[in-house]
Amino acid sequence: MNRILREDIENVIKNSPEISSKKILITGGAGFIGSSLCDFFIKTGNEVVCLDNFSSGPPRNIEHLAGNSNFKLIKWDLRSGKIPEGLSGFDIIYHLASVNAPGAFLKYGVDIFLTNILGTHALLKKAHEWNSTFFFPSSSEIYGDPTVVPTPETYRGNVSCTGPRSTYDEGKRAAEAIIHAFDRQHGVDFRILRFFNIFGPRQSFGYPHGKVIANWLVNAKKEKKITLYGNGKQTRAFLYLSDALRGVLDVSLKKEASRQFFNIGGSEEVAMKDVAEKIVGLFGDVEIEHKPLPKDDPNRRCPDTTKIRETLGWEPKISFDEGLKRAKEWFVEEG
Ligand SMILES: NC(=O)c1ccc[n+]([C@@H]2O[C@H](COP(=O)([O-])OP(=O)(O)OC[C@H]3O[C@@H](n4cnc5c(N)ncnc54)[C@H](O)[C@@H]3O)[C@@H](O)[C@H]2O)c1
Repeated sequence: MNRILREDIENVIKNSPEISSKKILITGGAGFIGSSLCDFFIKTGNEVVCLDNFSSGPPRNIEHLAGNSNFKLIKWDLRSGKIPEGLSGFDIIYHLASVNAPGAFLKYGVDIFLTNILGTHALLKKAHEWNSTFFFPSSSEIYGDPTVVPTPETYRGNVSCTGPRSTYDEGKRAAEAIIHAFDRQHGVDFRILRFFNIFGPRQSFGYPHGKVIANWLVNAKKEKKITLYGNGKQTRAFLYLSDALRGVLDVSLKKEASRQFFNIGGSEEVAMKDVAEKIVGLFGDVEIEHKPLPKDDPNRRCPDTTKIRETLGWEPKISFDEGLKRAKEWFVEEG
């Protein structure tokens, strides 16, 4: 593991609730966020089982954990709505599995829906059977192209149910709905965290699974060119990985978060043209190429994070500029 990610995980350990000797199931554990969550739980002395089909998370994200007796990897596809035989007794289930990049929305729309619906239902049944806490990562996409910005958790969304992003947006919305319904009908200690644009080490780049910051850092390094879509006035509020992980741990481990749903994202709403300029500033000699905005790309995206701040005391610790520098350093070495 390189220095940046090692420091990030240590920082998360220092600033999160203590947890050890627990049994943790992480679906999507080979992915960007999941692999660092695996690192966190292994480093803090827990037992981790990771289920992944490697559709968007590569095996190299977790191969350093292969020899660890507390870590077990099961190659598994959750689209079937089945869970491997012989698993039992997990204290917490993190159901992170889901392809989630805009390129993949078009190519794998049905798979995304099945993973979020059938996978979530299957894992909820196990959470009930094992009396596990059930953590689900939802998304700013559930708000669609919001008319209220900064967007609070109470906003009900402005979502297309037929557009190119719809099986992801509606998949996450339906997953949230079934989690609430499952709790009402059978009882489950769930926690939902709606991520807004997380970035950092190990995020996928390139088509179809790449996300914008990772794509731009790798393209700036390798091709000296990045692509800005539309006029660049569309906004996002990016959050660095270690702050997102601290949020995941606060929400999954603090009792005040039981049966709650929260937004999490950066506190700076930035226009994409300004993000592109920052990347040019970090590398120097990089050209910005312009292409039309993809259909249904949200115009503004920025969370109201009052609820997670007031309920759990979570605050971002890494500014966008600092996170960008750390991510650049990681991608220059590893990307
Ligand atoms: N990164 C973000 O900005 C962001 C924003 C909103 C929501 N989320 C959610 O957070 C979670 C983790 O996202 P990430 O950024 O780490 O993405 P990622 O693509 O890096 O990780 C997802 C992992 O799930 C695995 N997976 C996908 N479908 C599967 C299936 N059918 N069976 C088994 N494994 C499967 C992939 O191989 C990958 O390892 C996802 O649920 C995503 O929707 C992320």
